[in-house]
Formats: sequence, C-alpha cells, structure tokens
Amino acid sequence: MADGHAAYPSVFVVDGATHFPPPLPPKPGQRRMQVRRNRLVQNTLLVLVCLTLLGVLMEGVFIYKLHKHGDTSESKPAESPEALKGDQLVTRRPKPPPIPRPSKPLAHLAAGSKKPEKEGILEWIVEGDPIIHELEYRDGTLIVQKEGYYYVYSKISYSAEGSSFTQMVQKRSQRLPGSSIELLTYKRYNPSPLQKGSVRSSYVGGVFFMYTNDAVFVYVNNGSSVLLHKPADNCFGMFML
Ligand SMILES: *[C@@H]1O[C@H](CO)[C@@H](O)[C@H](O)[C@H]1NC(C)=O
Repeated sequence: MADGHAAYPSVFVVDGATHFPPPLPPKPGQRRMQVRRNRLVQNTLLVLVCLTLLGVLMEGVFIYKLHKHGDTSESKPAESPEALKGDQLVTRRPKPPPIPRPSKPLAHLAAGSKKPEKEGILEWIVEGDPIIHELEYRDGTLIVQKEGYYYVYSKISYSAEGSSFTQMVQKRSQRLPGSSIELLTYKRYNPSPLQKGSVRSSYVGGVFFMYTNDAVFVYVNNGSSVLLHKPADNCFGMFML
C-alpha cells in the first residue's frame, strides 16, 4: 500500500513539469473516428499508388505493342508461309520491276545474226527476248500490223577496207508488188584503198507512212564487210509515232 502511494507522486512529478494537465484519454467514439480517418487516408493512398502503377503498366503495354507492330511487317513473312505469297514475296526478294508493255507498235533488233556474202538482206537475232511489239519478224523483215507513221532506223558497223559500202533500208509493199522501195540510204566510196583494219559505222533514220503488211528490211551491197562482233554494233528498229 505504501509502495503504491510512493509510486503516484513520482509519476505526478514527471507530468507536473510540463505544467499541462495530462492528456485526456481519447473518448471511445473519438478514437474510433481517428482510426476510421487513418484507414481512409491509407486506402486513398493505396488507390492512388495502384492507379499510378496501372498507368505505368499500360504505358509499358502500349510501347510494347507499338514496338511489336513495327517488327511484324518484317518478321511476319518468315513466320507464316501463307504470307510469303503475293506482294510480300516480291518485297522480300527484290526483283526488277516488270517492263511495261509499249502502247504502240515497236521493234528494236540489236544483234545481226546472218549476213549475206555479197549483196542482200541482213538478218537479226530474235531468240531470247527482243523488243518486238505489234510487228512481225520474218527472214530479216519487220512486217507492219498497224498502219500509221513510223520512225525507221538502222546502224551498221562495217570494215572499210573495200572500195565501197552501201546500206539501205527498203520496204516491200503489197501495193507495189515485185519491187522494193528505197527508204533510207547510206553510201561510202573509197577512191583509194584504206588502211587494213579501218572500221566505220553508218546510221540512217527517218519517218515513213506504212500500210499493213509492208515489210521493212536492211539491205547491204557487201555483206562480208559487216562486222557482227557485238550485239550493240548493229541495230534495226522501227516504232509508230
Ligand atoms: C567487201 O568487203 C570485203 C571485206 O571488207 C572486202 O575485202 C571487199 O573488197 C569488199 N568488196 C567490195 C566490192 O567492196
């Protein structure tokens, strides 16, 4: 009992130094209110943190999707064999774009194939993929399928060792059977013999009206002097204007 009395004053002294009355124990209702308020603040903070995390997560998902979308255009064909069909195959294995079809008749024969021993018609290589559109080739002649104005041209490389060389572009027409019409002529005459190995080239070109079935060809007076070394050395062509 005496111990209990002694304990009171000491406690009282400690509190007394503050000169304040000891804080009242919170009323049961007040305490419950505080606890509820604390819980509310805690929950609000939790919701805010969750929202922030959700925002970060969504941002991450968007960035990932964006990144993946950028990748798919390149990686997709490798994944699915179906995707290799059509345009995607073309983009993956670059091929030269297809050459457009000409809108009008056109022919360019770049390589001579056969030359006459003396005078005669030059023949051209038409195997492979020569440019011949809406014109027919037969035995050195280009046969017109559509009447109209055509530009006709020819270039010949020849050895100038002989005394003369003549190249002509001529045509045969059903309107003038049995005769050839001279369209373009190149003539070279050497009064004195030229040095061995002398090489010349001719070029002729002009515009002519052609009827259907007109046959145009290149004629030379001395086939043995024509040089057929390279495809680009000689040519014969025509196109509708
Ligand atoms: C024909 O060409 C050959 C080779 O160039 C030449 O030797 C010959 O003299 C030429 N003939 C004529 C008539 O020019």
